[in-house]
Amino acid sequence: MNLDFERIIPSIPYILEGIPTTLQVVVVAAIIGFVLGIVLSILKISKIKPLNWLADFYTSIFRGTPLVLQLMLIYFGSPQMLGIQIEAYEAAFLAFGLNSAAYISEIIRGGILAVDKGQREAALALGVSESSMMLNIILPQAIKNILPALMNELISLTKESAVVTIIGLADIMRRAYIVGGQTFKFFEPILVAGLIYYVMIMILTLFGKLLERRMRRSD
Ligand code: ARG
Repeated sequence: MNLDFERIIPSIPYILEGIPTTLQVVVVAAIIGFVLGIVLSILKISKIKPLNWLADFYTSIFRGTPLVLQLMLIYFGSPQMLGIQIEAYEAAFLAFGLNSAAYISEIIRGGILAVDKGQREAALALGVSESSMMLNIILPQAIKNILPALMNELISLTKESAVVTIIGLADIMRRAYIVGGQTFKFFEPILVAGLIYYVMIMILTLFGKLLERRMRRSD
């Protein structure tokens, strides 16, 4: 094995500059995924059957096809489908956000169902409205319990974001690939990208642990 990091050292800042792009995709998609995920999870536990079907159908589509495919459909298919070219960033926000919502809705649904039934009965007996009960009593408890699962989703999102390379966004992965093409050395820049992702995930994990500890303390 002959590793030659010296030749790619000047390119490391170029690869690092991909971090904001990666983070932007992750953060926006996580917000879309979380908000839409809550809505979908509520539809899923609703007593109105068509709403259950609708949310289940949504999940089946976004979990049943590859994320790369969804991203390609939105980006390359938008001119034909909508008559406009969706920008690469927007396509990434949409694809990752919509995809994540499918997973997050299942996580939240599980969390809501796991909250003790007595809480619901007590709230209703005290005259708390259905929406206030959901928002102020059930969801906060559910979120605390599903924090590890949500953390997993955020980690998945961070790593999967490397897929935006195919629609030309200059994220960490694409930049490493470009450096490889320019220096004819692929192993080293891709290893550098791997290290960056790893460090990002470690920071995220640490942050998640702190948040979890903090939420447990309030018990
Ligand atoms: N590679 C998987 C796919 O193509 C990952 C989906 C994203 N995962 C997630 N938890 N949001 O479907």
